[in-house]
Amino acid sequence: MSDGLLKVHELNKRFDGIKALDDFSCSVRKGEILGLIGPNGAGKTTFFNVVSGFLPSESGRIDFKGRDVTNVSPNRITNFGISRTFQNLRLIRQISVLDNVLLSFQDQPGEKLRHVFLSRRRSQNKENENRKEALALLDDTGLAQKANDSAEELSYGQQKLLSLVCCMAMKSDLLLLDEPIAGIAPEMIDRILTIIRGLPEEGKSVILIEHNLDAVMQVCDRVIFMDAGAKVSEGTPEEVRNDPRVIEAYLD
Ligand SMILES: Nc1ncnc2c1ncn2[C@@H]1O[C@H](COP(=O)(O)OP(=O)(O)OP(=O)(O)O)[C@@H](O)[C@H]1O
Ligand SMILES: [Mg+2]
Repeated sequence: MSDGLLKVHELNKRFDGIKALDDFSCSVRKGEILGLIGPNGAGKTTFFNVVSGFLPSESGRIDFKGRDVTNVSPNRITNFGISRTFQNLRLIRQISVLDNVLLSFQDQPGEKLRHVFLSRRRSQNKENENRKEALALLDDTGLAQKANDSAEELSYGQQKLLSLVCCMAMKSDLLLLDEPIAGIAPEMIDRILTIIRGLPEEGKSVILIEHNLDAVMQVCDRVIFMDAGAKVSEGTPEEVRNDPRVIEAYLD
């Protein structure tokens, strides 16, 4: 078997006759950042929804770490080591930034069970440990000063950053990031891109959906351009950017 972490083979998904995924195949290697681009409605988010178990596919196969994970539940997908962000942020707005991260820790494989079986004291120690780790993560990503603010008090850019931090807190091997820098200021874009670029050093793989082509060029090792549910072009960022079909789509 090759070194593919995620291997997706001919996925199909239709909505009322619209082909959102049309024999869509791709793979991601360990430590690779794959960019997924394409016009509105191309099927990018649908691809994430199917891979992360939120929507069933009609046919096709998804292998992760050599295991068939096609159409398994979102919880099990998380346990296998895939986490995701959402295009419309899904933070818990009324609780603190820190608590949002702590809740993401609970989504780590085995974390909930561990709490059930640990003694009260050890469970308390574990909670302190998690707290420390969450604060370190917030510190690394420039959100430490906001730790006790409620998530809804953050600017939109900070909320996007927090979503990424929560996704990282799940300690997955593969992060699916759905437009993590859409609609935010350049300074925050740079900060988020720097964090994403650092993920492979920690052994993580990423699929990055993004409309901002410059950002995709900056951080991705490889890019897939999709349209109408199907792969149109695949290659290095340069190759895909210079593909006439991609140029045409982005000039429209
Ligand atoms: N739950 C759903 N029910 C019905 N149709 C859907 C659903 N989700 C997606 N679609 C349709 O499937 C197609 C692909 O949508 P999708 O959201 O995957 O596109 P996208 O590439 O993520 O677009 P964008 O760049 O605008 O986020 C669109 O025609 C969309 O209207
Ligand atoms: Mg989308």
